Amino acid sequence: MLSLKGGVGKTTVVLGLASAALRRGARTLVVDLDPQCNATATLDPADTEATLADVLETPRPSVLRAAIAPSGWSDEVDVMVGSEELESLNDPDPGQRRLEKLGRALAELGSLLAEDELPYQMVLMDCPPSLGRLTRSALVAAQGALLVTEPTLYAVSGAQRAFEAVEHTRREQNPNLVPLGVVVNKVRTHSYEHQFRIAELRESFGSLVMPVALPDRLAVQQAQGACMPIHQWHTPGAREVSLAFNLLLARVLRTGGRGRHQAIAWPDDDDTDSTDPDPTDPAQRAAD
Ligand SMILES: Nc1ncnc2c1ncn2[C@@H]1O[C@H](COP(=O)(O)OP(=O)(O)OP(=O)(O)O)[C@@H](O)[C@H]1O
Ligand SMILES: [Mg+2]
Repeated sequence: MLSLKGGVGKTTVVLGLASAALRRGARTLVVDLDPQCNATATLDPADTEATLADVLETPRPSVLRAAIAPSGWSDEVDVMVGSEELESLNDPDPGQRRLEKLGRALAELGSLLAEDELPYQMVLMDCPPSLGRLTRSALVAAQGALLVTEPTLYAVSGAQRAFEAVEHTRREQNPNLVPLGVVVNKVRTHSYEHQFRIAELRESFGSLVMPVALPDRLAVQQAQGACMPIHQWHTPGAREVSLAFNLLLARVLRTGGRGRHQAIAWPDDDDTDSTDPDPTDPAQRAAD
């Protein structure tokens, strides 16, 4: 998950997709690359002996194991915990060898499994809002890149710069990196300005703009503050956002599934269908 603009909803989308995956009973790892550690705070894992900063310095299986803990949400969602120390590792020009360390570490995840343990079905990486070593390491390690934006002027230009970074990484370093799409977050249905910016995004990104937009709902902040998955926050706003995340997850799995690494089958989901209705669409909401 990336954007080169702060506060647009990267962490919210990581947490929402983890929550949707949990609802489907899929094992997920969240990797918190942001020195602000917002994803770690809301996932509320137990203390660990190491953090992602140690993994980036020494990508050995023992260090990887020490940096991962089950979240407070469930044993099905684990966290590779963030740390303020990541800030000092966010070199703007780190060199190829350092950029590859995260991918090398993540490739060892399978070797950490106990005999009765299931592999992760999804690894979600929450990037900081900058294009230094942290975000670029994620792009080199990832199979897919999901851009997040708000429907506002500066956010749209941030998404365009982020997309250029994805394309550059795909050309130069990671040919397997699939652009999964652009998620438009914090949408207010009746805002003319928002509709204008969404049209502008469609002009720039075409079909990469996800047909599922995420509405602006207080429930998002409430659930995050209570360290709860949005799917377990039972208000009408949370239900609306949860449904959008179910659809987004289904869409991401379909697009990401075209990559050659997709090996682990996902359970079917009755709550999604191929028409991908937009929960922020007034006609759709009236029908609901
Ligand atoms: N759909 C939404 N409805 C209401 N509030 C939202 C929504 N999405 C995000 N927020 C709130 O907006 C703030 C910023 O969101 P978030 O932390 O996910 O952004 P970010 O892109 O990860 O930020 P940063 O660049 O600082 O890492 C948070 O307080 C979050 O709760
Ligand atoms: Mg964040």
